[in-house]
Amino acid sequence: MSAQDKVTSVPDLDLEVLEIHLLLTAIEQRYGYDFFNYAMSSLKRRVRNIQCDENLSSISELVPKILHDPQMFDRFLVEMSVTVTRMFRNPQIFKRIKESLLPKLHTYPRIKIWHAGCATGEEVYSMAILLAEADLLKKTHIYATDYNNQSLAIAEKGIYPLEKMQDFSKNYLAAGGQCSFADYYHAKYEHAVMASILSKNITFAHHNLMRDQSFGEMNIIFCRNVLIYFDQILQDKVLTMMRDSLIHRGYLVLGDRETISFTGISESFTEIEPRSRIYQKQPEISGF
Ligand SMILES: C[S@@+](CC[C@H](N)C(=O)[O-])C[C@H]1O[C@@H](n2cnc3c(N)ncnc32)[C@H](O)[C@@H]1O
Repeated sequence: MSAQDKVTSVPDLDLEVLEIHLLLTAIEQRYGYDFFNYAMSSLKRRVRNIQCDENLSSISELVPKILHDPQMFDRFLVEMSVTVTRMFRNPQIFKRIKESLLPKLHTYPRIKIWHAGCATGEEVYSMAILLAEADLLKKTHIYATDYNNQSLAIAEKGIYPLEKMQDFSKNYLAAGGQCSFADYYHAKYEHAVMASILSKNITFAHHNLMRDQSFGEMNIIFCRNVLIYFDQILQDKVLTMMRDSLIHRGYLVLGDRETISFTGISESFTEIEPRSRIYQKQPEISGF
């Protein structure tokens, strides 16, 4: 065998996947963020976007850039974090929450709600509005978390483009809103500033679902349109953490395309109505 014959490539090696693994290793070692359990299809799409924007001939060229330039890592984080959201997204879910869940919460002396992956906060303000209309906001504390600090800063300010208000208003009415959506913000130039009464009991905090601890004793956890970016292993890990963070008979609210079927926690919950994406935690059945 000649020396040349020895330098053969491994058959069927997916070079792009290998390069992405090298990139994720660099990120994990340098910044402590573990993206290995993000869905590969999503990783490929997002890394290709950066490669294209940065005019790089290969993904490997991104490795030294990310290692030596924290701003490039921030760029990666923002690319990985899809922050598309809106007020009363999928209004029928909020209508169900208003009609089926909120009446049950009246019996609790205090209510704790966690919005994991809250993006720019529209979901959180939607819930605060429903709670205010049900006269529950005063005794509720809301934790709104995300790992994207740029989105969290917008969420905390509660300032949105005025042009979006018409759509938000339609969703609010479809969710069973009792007043006028305009009652909950005031216009300032081209922006809508959400009423400060809504955010009084909201804590906005950086939280990374890949590695950070849970918040305990929650009555409701929202984790909508976040799990779709994770692989099965990370979905299971995050869902288990959420199950353990809920009180008995607490509720888990997922996105339209998300389910707990076929996950490790499916036995611990019942869906309040088929395909509602609202799951109630059931008491544990103790073994004999
Ligand atoms: C599409 S938005 C969903 C916003 C809102 N929940 C909704 O359904 O409209 C997904 C959010 O999940 C956040 N996210 C993704 N991975 C995360 C992680 N590991 N830890 C915390 N937040 C994460 C992203 O930053 C983004 O803001």
